[in-house]
Formats: sequence, structure tokens, C-alpha cells
Amino acid sequence: MFPTTRLRRLRQTEPMRALVREHRLAAHDLILPIFVDEAADAPVPIAAMPGVARIPLAGLAREIEAIARDGVRALMLFGIPRQKDAIGSDSLSATGLMASMTRIAKDAAPELVVITDNCFCEYTDHGHCGVVQDGHVHNDLTLENLGRQAVVAAEAGADMVAPSAMMDGQVAAIRAALDKAGHAGTPVMAYSSKFASAFYGPFRAAAGCDLQGDRKEYQTDPMNAREAMRESAADEAEGADWLMVKPGMPYLDVLARLRQRTDLPLAVYQVSGEYAMLKFAAQAGALDEQRVVRESLGAFKRAGADVILTYFARQVIREGF
Ligand code: PBG
Repeated sequence: MFPTTRLRRLRQTEPMRALVREHRLAAHDLILPIFVDEAADAPVPIAAMPGVARIPLAGLAREIEAIARDGVRALMLFGIPRQKDAIGSDSLSATGLMASMTRIAKDAAPELVVITDNCFCEYTDHGHCGVVQDGHVHNDLTLENLGRQAVVAAEAGADMVAPSAMMDGQVAAIRAALDKAGHAGTPVMAYSSKFASAFYGPFRAAAGCDLQGDRKEYQTDPMNAREAMRESAADEAEGADWLMVKPGMPYLDVLARLRQRTDLPLAVYQVSGEYAMLKFAAQAGALDEQRVVRESLGAFKRAGADVILTYFARQVIREGF
């Protein structure tokens, strides 16, 4: 008790503060999501995400080399295909965008950990994450396609697949499909606690998802933390190698709670809307971008994340921590 205890004793100088710092960020904590546009012939800036642009497929190799040179260690790939249809068949083809962008990324920088976002919303003309039947996304028909899509990604060289469709049983279906196709060594990073969030707003424009309706039938209600625990427990039981909480900043309680319950590695996704909030506030002069970004990433580490998916990854790694 004061005056015997004085917490300020350990805060007097930066070297002293560094000795008692509980968490640190490094390049290996961060995964950079990127958008690859098959039809574009120049980078397409995303208005709601200043500093982020869709990368034309034709320039992907060069961009990946630059990203790797900047020190980024891991990427999550999102594709915007030329061809969209009712089931997202482009992503099920060995010559489609998911396969080609994965191959190009691995060829350009073999040491980068390349992860594919496995879902259908960017590949379907209705923008839903699976097969629509009678106005609803059909769970089990979608599972079969998710398994096929994961195999396509693995055959193209993906180091890890990350199912984000929020279908029941998707991890088990993907694990079984990968194993059967000879990819027992490919890990599954499950978007396990994924909420039906308005914070995905800018992503929908970035990824060209013209969604009719919403995803409330398959994504978790933002009011439900216990349900998010059940989702993650189900994915763990189905064989997920990683769990994930998404979005990040508005769901730190979920992240901290999940950390208490699982020994699996845990990822958190600082989504497009979180990026936009910080960027626009900084552009308006309201916040110090460098500091506020690092503080937000530190919050994820404190809450228990092992890795963070963030659109700030390249910038932060380039600037230093
Ligand atoms: C695909 C997917 C989405 C995001 C990542 N994967 C969109 C969604 O679920 O609507 C959002 C990422 C972001 O907002 O940055 N299903």
C-alpha cells in the first residue's frame, strides 16, 4: 500500500518501462489481407479504406515481392473474379482466380505464409456465402463446395485455408476433403467466432460483394458472446488448427473469454470498418495514427490473440514497432 508501494517507480525511464512491458508486437504477429482483382489493369483504390487498393492480378507477382521485401510474413488472399455465378464456380476451378492468385503468390515469395479466405461471397452473383435455395443459403450443399474450394486452394499451394462462410460443419467438411485429396498437412484457420457485423461495410465494396439481404442466417448475432463460444468449441471439435474472433476491437470480451477456454492458437481480425475508423479519424487530425494503431494492436495481444489480421500490417512493419 502507498507510500510503500509506488507504481510510478517502474515507469521512470523508457529502458525501465521496457523491462516490465507485458506484450510486444513484431512482424510475425501480423497477417496482411489483400484484395486481388482479376479484371483490373491498374490498382483500384478503395474509397472507404484510404491507403488500400485492389491489386490487379497481372501485377500481383511484383506487388507480393514488394510486400515480402517490406518484411510482411503472412498474407490472407481475397479475390475479385471476372466471372461470378450462382454458386461461385470460378473458385472451384484449378484455373480460376483462387487457384491462380495462390500460385502467383507462392511463386513470387515462397517464404510468405499464404492463407486463402475460403468463402463464396466474392464469387457469387448474389453475394451470399454459399448455395442459395428458396431464398436461403443451403448449409449442406455449401459444405460440399467449401470442401472442393479448399482442395483447389491447397493444390495451388496455399499454406493454410481459412473458411469464413459460417456454415455449420464447415471445418469437418474441409478437413475431410483435404485429407481425402492428400492434403492432411494443410492447416485450417477457422473464422470460428464471426459476427454479423456492420463493421464489414467497407469490405463489401472492396471485395465487390453486391449482397442482397444480410448474413444474419449464418453469422453470429453481435449480442451473443456465449453463442460465439459454442461456435468456436464446435470448430475446435471438428479439427480446426486455429480459431479466430472477428471483428476485433468491438469483440475484445469474446477474444479474452475464448483465450481462457482454448489452447489452440488464436487469431483476431481487425476488419475493414475498424481500419476505416482509425484512418479517417487520423486523416481528420483527431487521432495520432501511428500511436493509435499500435495501441489497438496491443489491445489484441493483451486480450489473448497470438496473431492479428490487419490492413495496417504492411504499414506498421515498414514503420517499425
Ligand atoms: C467473407 C469475408 C468477409 C470478411 C472477411 N471474409 C465479409 C463478410 O463476412 O461479410 C470481412 C473482412 C473485413 O471487413 O475486413 N465472408
